[in-house]
Amino acid sequence: MSAASHWSGASQAIETTIGTPGAAFVVFPLADSTRLGIILTKMGRVTWSGFSRLVGLALIAAMIGTALAQTPVERGKYLVNTIMTCQNCHTPKGDRGVPIFTRDLSGGLSWDEPPFKVTASNITQDKTHGIGAWTDAQVKALLRTGKRPTGVQLAEIMPTNFYGIITERDTDAIVAYLRTVKPIDNTVPDPVYKIALPHVAAPGSEKPFTEADLADPVKRGFYLATIGHCFECHTPMGPKGREFASAYGKGGFDFPGPWGVSTSRNITSSKTKGLGDWSDAEIKRAITQGISRDGSHLKPPMGFEFYANMTDADLNALVAYLRTVPAKE
Ligand code: HEC
Ligand code: HEC
Repeated sequence: MSAASHWSGASQAIETTIGTPGAAFVVFPLADSTRLGIILTKMGRVTWSGFSRLVGLALIAAMIGTALAQTPVERGKYLVNTIMTCQNCHTPKGDRGVPIFTRDLSGGLSWDEPPFKVTASNITQDKTHGIGAWTDAQVKALLRTGKRPTGVQLAEIMPTNFYGIITERDTDAIVAYLRTVKPIDNTVPDPVYKIALPHVAAPGSEKPFTEADLADPVKRGFYLATIGHCFECHTPMGPKGREFASAYGKGGFDFPGPWGVSTSRNITSSKTKGLGDWSDAEIKRAITQGISRDGSHLKPPMGFEFYANMTDADLNALVAYLRTVPAKE
């Protein structure tokens, strides 16, 4: 079953992106109220050998070095602008879908779905229209739970159901970076909710990771895949919602858009249907350049151009994790 996503708010730009694969539009897979209220089954724990643990330790030293060299603002900027693709939704788009970075994060795409009609908010430091008047604790609570200071649950088009895993340090870093975002006076339409929306944590994201978790490359890869909500798009939707328990990473979810329809692919370790036989370089090229193994160009809405600025260490961790995802065919 697929679910078309109906979004507007940049309709002119949408029209002009037809036939330009790689344009950064998100069409989001949450369309149907049957998904709401679904209970997700916890995924099994990653297991790994002592050998990879040793290799891991060497990588960790390099990663910790990088992490320490970064200020919280730099770390936050990196997360926001790469793996978490906040700009893909919150930055307005101009001609041919190109983000207007002079109005960065001042409000973006809209989604009109049966249970709600929402627009990606102005999250600049503007005190009236943005989040400039929110306290740090309020921004953190929003990221972790999807709850606004008013207590209202937002529509999890914004993937806060994947964000419970974010470490304390990274949550602080994201907030620190958001504080530096230039205030822009832009009003987006108020959200309309037709039902009270639930918050159901995605598998493995129920509680924050620790710094020790991040030092383990496979777990770090899982962390990145989670905050990047890869497996939301890459898991099919069944009658009861996203089929994480039975088809995690199997692909097969449709994204209609100006590009026609793209269908998420199998990113499990299956050698025949998934990435099992791909080289690391081929997987990284697909993620960062939108080029499949056979050289063909992949279509939106995956945010290739944001992933392109990830560090090689993070891309390696992501690949290391993808290698552990049980094969589904
Ligand atoms: C897939 C699209 C998408 C992504 C990615 C996304 N958001 Fe959002 N965000 C939204 C939408 C849509 C809303 C409004 C939802 C609603 O009104 O129910 C929202 C709401 C918010 C709000 C609430 C603002 C308010 O005034 O109530 C904050 C804060 C926010 N996002 C920050 C972020 C940050 C920071 C990131 C990246 C770490 C991010 N978002 C990533 C779509 C997205
Ligand atoms: C917004 C939805 C979305 C998100 C988020 C997303 N993807 Fe994708 N991805 C897709 C779609 C759709 C395709 C297929 C595009 C096409 O066929 O043109 C795809 C293609 C791929 C491919 C190419 C597979 C092949 O057989 O060519 C890989 C690898 C991949 N994604 C991995 C990831 C990883 C890793 C992440 C997280 C960092 C991620 N994706 C996040 C939707 C998404």
